[in-house]
Amino acid sequence: MTLAPPPIAMLAELTHRCPLACPYCSNPVKLARQDTELNKETWISAFQQAAALGVLQLHLSGGEPASRRDLTELVTAARAAGLYTNLITSGIGLSERRLADLNQAGLDHIQLSLQGTDAAMADEIGGYRGGFERKMQVAAWIADIGFPLTLNTVLHRRNLHQLPRAIEIAQEMSARRIEVATVQFHGWALRNRDALMPTREQAAETTRVVTEARARLRGKLVIDYVPADYHEEFPKRCMGGWGTTGLNIAPDGQVLPCHAAQTIPHLTFDRIQDKPLAEIWHRSDAFNAYRGTDWMAEPCKSCDRKTVDFGGCRCQALALTGDASATDPACSKSPHHASMQAQAADHAAQVNAALTYRIAPGKPVPAQGKR
Ligand code: SF4
Ligand code: FES
Repeated sequence: MTLAPPPIAMLAELTHRCPLACPYCSNPVKLARQDTELNKETWISAFQQAAALGVLQLHLSGGEPASRRDLTELVTAARAAGLYTNLITSGIGLSERRLADLNQAGLDHIQLSLQGTDAAMADEIGGYRGGFERKMQVAAWIADIGFPLTLNTVLHRRNLHQLPRAIEIAQEMSARRIEVATVQFHGWALRNRDALMPTREQAAETTRVVTEARARLRGKLVIDYVPADYHEEFPKRCMGGWGTTGLNIAPDGQVLPCHAAQTIPHLTFDRIQDKPLAEIWHRSDAFNAYRGTDWMAEPCKSCDRKTVDFGGCRCQALALTGDASATDPACSKSPHHASMQAQAADHAAQVNAALTYRIAPGKPVPAQGKR
């Protein structure tokens, strides 16, 4: 058997704990409890194994990774293993002192999330009063230290109109890059589709704003863009292709091909405590299930874009068709594409739909519209 090339990036979900409660959180609806989280030594071993396997970039994420008290030690160990370290954070839980320690530890880059461009929007979406003010303070400390910064925005029906201001804020923060990601419907976001789905007109306007800003800010600010795929013609290349460029480790040690892979019921996932990472990457059933193109059926099988988008997102195919090996319905060649777009319009028409906020790990999952 020919071995797959090594992954480039690893996302370490250090914890599912988080002070915010964003209703589009990509964490699973059933969150990992704190007492199931990997300890520091196991994370460090995972980082060392990742570097030996060929991983170059380590994304430290959550939940909120600052909820881990040993975050600085983990960064130190990752840098010692030779990994480029990127912290993906809401900023809540980071003090000036902690940021200085992370700088001392060698942290290479920070991605700061933005839930809205003013306190009213940001605090409502994050479910955390005072969060916006706190985040702006953290952004100022990040700039003082001089960390390279990316601003991460998740856009949806309620805040898409704030995109021009979000781009201004990125410039005011001296960010090098802004990620403009229209909400992708996995995890908590899938439960909140009625409340978050953008209209077709909003999706088109977002593309227009991004195109205009990219031209105007060339050389000053890089704009990465994830469009609203329910309204698109072709799907996104999810995870760069399953088992192709990246992997995730969940807080309890399960090694996943993507953040929503646990929704695919026939897959089982090895844990980093039980098997070497290289063996999981190369030989596990879960990573080989949708690797490459051999698993594809029509229309992907004979499509000339099959190595461009790898058939789109397996988790979205499962969620919308019941079959994880189906063509992602975001593709116009999928027999489910028309019904997906009709659904998008139906969801977008639910203007008064209530938000279901993400809850703390270990708590019962609330019914729709409850907190
Ligand atoms: Fe991509 Fe499959 Fe659609 Fe072709 S048919 S564009 S491979 S999702
Ligand atoms: Fe799992 Fe796209 S989120 S393949």
